[in-house]
Amino acid sequence: MFRNKAPALLALITTAFFLTACSKAEKEVVDNYDPARDYFTFANTDQFVTEHLALDLDVDFDAQELRGFAMLTLRRLDAAASRVTLDTRDLTIASVTVLQSGSSSPAEFSLGERHATLGAPLHVELPADTGASFDLMIEYNTSPASTALQWLPPELTAGGRHPLMFSQSQAVHARSWVPLQDTPAIRITYAATVRTPESLLAVMSANNDPLTPRTGEYHFDMPQPIPSYLLAIAVGNLYFAPLGEDTGVYTEPELLDASVYEFADTQAMLEQAEAMYGPYDWGRYDLLILPPSFPYGGMENPRLSFITPSLLAGDRSLVSVIAHELAHSWSGNLVTNATWRDGWLNEGMTSYFESRLMEVIYGVDRVDEERVLMYRELLQDLETVPEHMQALAPRLDDTSSEDFQGGIHYSKGQLFLEYLEQAFGRDAFDTFLTSYFQEFAFGTITTEAFLDFLDAELLSQEGAPVSREQAEQWTYQPGLPEGTTIPSSANLDNAAALAAAWADGEVVLADIPLDDWSPHATIHFINSLPADLAHDKLRELDEGWEISSTRNAEIGRAWFIQVANRRFTDAYEQLEAHLNRFGRGRLIAPVYSALAANGEDRELALTMFERARSAYHPITASWIEAGLRRAAD
Ligand code: BES
Ligand code: ZN
Repeated sequence: MFRNKAPALLALITTAFFLTACSKAEKEVVDNYDPARDYFTFANTDQFVTEHLALDLDVDFDAQELRGFAMLTLRRLDAAASRVTLDTRDLTIASVTVLQSGSSSPAEFSLGERHATLGAPLHVELPADTGASFDLMIEYNTSPASTALQWLPPELTAGGRHPLMFSQSQAVHARSWVPLQDTPAIRITYAATVRTPESLLAVMSANNDPLTPRTGEYHFDMPQPIPSYLLAIAVGNLYFAPLGEDTGVYTEPELLDASVYEFADTQAMLEQAEAMYGPYDWGRYDLLILPPSFPYGGMENPRLSFITPSLLAGDRSLVSVIAHELAHSWSGNLVTNATWRDGWLNEGMTSYFESRLMEVIYGVDRVDEERVLMYRELLQDLETVPEHMQALAPRLDDTSSEDFQGGIHYSKGQLFLEYLEQAFGRDAFDTFLTSYFQEFAFGTITTEAFLDFLDAELLSQEGAPVSREQAEQWTYQPGLPEGTTIPSSANLDNAAALAAAWADGEVVLADIPLDDWSPHATIHFINSLPADLAHDKLRELDEGWEISSTRNAEIGRAWFIQVANRRFTDAYEQLEAHLNRFGRGRLIAPVYSALAANGEDRELALTMFERARSAYHPITASWIEAGLRRAAD
């Protein structure tokens, strides 16, 4: 039933910039690729669908495992089916019981062969009298190797005195902490009881009551149906501070004040988002600021976005990540990509929405700066991503598993929506998006269904400025179609011009008004330095601007990529400090790659990686490894 297409699709879902290379042996062409099918699940969702999940879990930091019960409420679609298949990975299943109308009976179960990406199917044989609706009670525990869970010792937290654990379920990791139908096509409500060491607090992607007493036993309810990749949990020495009426932040006490300052605009973002695209359907919106090993910038877990602490720059310059995760409450969490191949509908639409939110709150100049930086990264991706992976929704039947899509889902997706906005006008396009969110709320969407809706609402209007064919060029063809509006920013043009002038000795550093610049302009200046710039000049820049000791993680990223590319060894000690300070893949993997690819420092990159590795999340470690491998080719 399952065909081995997963590695190529995994490339897509690991959109965040890098990808595991897969062995040639795993490469296999799928005949008749079915765009509506999720190739990442073993679950027989055509025969049974899950409606509700009830969890009862003990959080054991010593054993590094979750232990307890998952009860799935299932509805039967196929009267003849007698076996339920669920997704698991590295779970130990103790028992399975079928419950219906007051009676219970043990069920036979077996775990199938373990697949590297997908984990192992759990087959449950139903007793003959099992009806149309029943519960499966599964007694189980996770393994310390769970790919979704990171168990941090106290040393890797801000406070250094308590352990902390967190989950990252997207894209296919929920199955490594809960046995379930792990596909975005199935939505479930959930409830959970979680027992933790007494001094710690548990939070979930559910209703977190900021006033919950810290008893070590916590109850959660998620009344809105969500796809499994949005199941999330974290436990640690967490405290809450309000940001606004419906918004707040959880983090360790050591980071609470800094977080309240940095994310002060969250309530305004929420209000603006509602004004733009309709009601926020999820109750509260809170942030959880995690330790540095959190591998992403942010993860849109409903009601509680998980966020990297690397955003704490002290100047609110990196909060577009908050706008992004909040925007997912509409694009992604409310209207969900049907399979990971349609990931651009989550990420591209969210990037567009993020930009719109940033514009109302911080003004068009800042957004133009962010768009230019995004566009520059897209151009780099388009140079490295093979053509057949450059479509927003690639036809994967002719592709190979080594390919990756970089940030194309995000930035090409955003440019597509900006193109439509320009063609139809902002008002008409906002009306379209608002009705899109309404029409598909709490449902899933394929690229094809999106195109049909776009066609019905906008493209088929008389005299419409965009044809279906043009829209399909974006979704199915490589590169950027003609008519793409190239982002531009006068501030950034100015920074680039000054980079060239300073490099040529026409301007002295002291005359560059760095203090008036946004961090984005500084990044653009760094990115615009000519390739043949002498080390003396780099030294002058670093001494003058103290870039190597910047507090801003994105400036550090841009700078240390240049430092590594140019073998500017004066700054290698601080480069390594950067690699140890941050665990977000985006901030460090390209620095390792640049080091490994500069012709001299591959060994050094490997050594630095070995030294830092135990503090990294396995996802970040695998990106770094993939980058190091590519640099070796
Ligand atoms: N949902 C993504 C993170 C993700 C994507 C996890 C794919 C697993 C698989 C999240 O919303 C995201 O896009 N994060 C970005 C934020 C940025 C684009 C503003 C990140 O982490 O860099
Ligand atoms: Zn996202």
